[in-house]
Amino acid sequence: MRASPDDRLTIGEIIRRTGVSASALHFYERKGLIFSERGTGNQRIFSRHMLRRISLIIVAKRLGIPLSDVAEVFATLPTDRAPAHEDWQRVSRMWKRQLEERRRAIESLEHELTGCIGCGCLSMRACLLLNPDDALRGSGPGPVRLQKSGPSLPGDPEAGGG
Ligand code: FES
Repeated sequence: MRASPDDRLTIGEIIRRTGVSASALHFYERKGLIFSERGTGNQRIFSRHMLRRISLIIVAKRLGIPLSDVAEVFATLPTDRAPAHEDWQRVSRMWKRQLEERRRAIESLEHELTGCIGCGCLSMRACLLLNPDDALRGSGPGPVRLQKSGPSLPGDPEAGGG
């Protein structure tokens, strides 16, 4: 028998097909990324085409695309059928642009870090990594970030590390 996108799959079948845990699937469902219905015995039943959404979530995670961006894109996709080839092309183009922007931002940071290596001044005035574009100018004098982060230094109970 040929599989149809409208076939219904149990959560066990989804887990087996995707390798995604039940807790992750529940999380994605709470975030509105995937949808299920209740079957007999109140069991979660997924349309087969949800496999494609889950696959895209897996790909996005590998690419480091935040789930909030995935949700934004998924909001433009149909929920009652598998996304069309053009839908996936549009999504992949959008993510490619995001990855390119991130790569440029990382290259820029890497360039600034290169200037810091061997410098060690950690100057709020001079160090572009500590204070890009002198953004902390209006926050007062001194090491603004260090003062603000004082209570969460290592060993502080509020740091969560005990
Ligand atoms: S540490 Fe000196 S410029 Fe960044």
